[in-house]
Amino acid sequence: MSTTSTNIAGIRLEKYALNASGPDCTTLEELEKIGNSDCAAIMMKSCTLEPREGNPEPRYQRLDFGAIQAMGLPNLGYKEYIKFVSELKKYNKPVIASLSGMCMADNLQMVKEFQDTDVDIIEVNFSCPNIIGKPQLGYDFEQTDTVLGKICEINDKVIGVKLPPYFDFSHFDSVAEIMLRHNVQFVSCINSLGNTMIIDPETESPIIKPKGGYGGLSGEYVKPVGLSNVRAFYERFEGKIQIFGVGGIVTGTDAFEYLLAGADAVQIATTFEKEGADCFTRIDNELKAIMGRKGYASIDEVKGKLKAL
Ligand code: DHB
Repeated sequence: MSTTSTNIAGIRLEKYALNASGPDCTTLEELEKIGNSDCAAIMMKSCTLEPREGNPEPRYQRLDFGAIQAMGLPNLGYKEYIKFVSELKKYNKPVIASLSGMCMADNLQMVKEFQDTDVDIIEVNFSCPNIIGKPQLGYDFEQTDTVLGKICEINDKVIGVKLPPYFDFSHFDSVAEIMLRHNVQFVSCINSLGNTMIIDPETESPIIKPKGGYGGLSGEYVKPVGLSNVRAFYERFEGKIQIFGVGGIVTGTDAFEYLLAGADAVQIATTFEKEGADCFTRIDNELKAIMGRKGYASIDEVKGKLKAL
């Protein structure tokens, strides 16, 4: 029987797939459902200094092959997530904080305050596309370098960065160099494809309200972008930084493709929103089946082993 256990910076994950920060991980009740499932860890919703209501509705729409959203970071404020950590530790799986400060000072304050908690991993979100008037940090390499430098100075936890999708090799080179120089332990790629638009020809309107219809695209549509980003960073990190693959994982076969590309684990949002926490059991079973059929006993036997054509 194949095992799908893995690790991030020495923190053991019993299975290969966990939830991504995004849907259904905002309240304690939602997080407890994740705790009770086969999800490999408990990722909490990206938080800000102050609680936020988020953007006006409709702000999330399911699509045939994914979803589009401009949620606007609705969350309870980081102090609540600090309180949740001790509640969630009883599920005996890693608890991950996702931090999405509105500015450098906010990120620094939150990183500092999570140091004194039992949180296992901190993911800093450099790629929220939905805050009106705020460009994504991950597309400004100078700022990325500065903010990361300051964060790493004050952090003793396992820390990593959630990255936006990149489409140019020079960008992969620049970002990889910054991540390596600051010794981050992991990156998560990709966040949703920012500022896309779906138009309904009947109503002659976009299908979400915020920002005049611009929103982050996720799900099956974005899997090829997620795979290329994981592969590009895997090739540049030479094993020094680990990778969460994110984007369009619906089946165990999708997870297997991310494993071939070099992902140490995968995160799932859109499928989790559509199917609920049972998706983690199904996807783990499907991944084990495909590994078993191909004669692979462990994640390490396949990781990064994409074959050249
Ligand atoms: C939101 C969307 C994102 O893609 C993200 O990384 C963080 C927050 C949001 O709009 O809530």
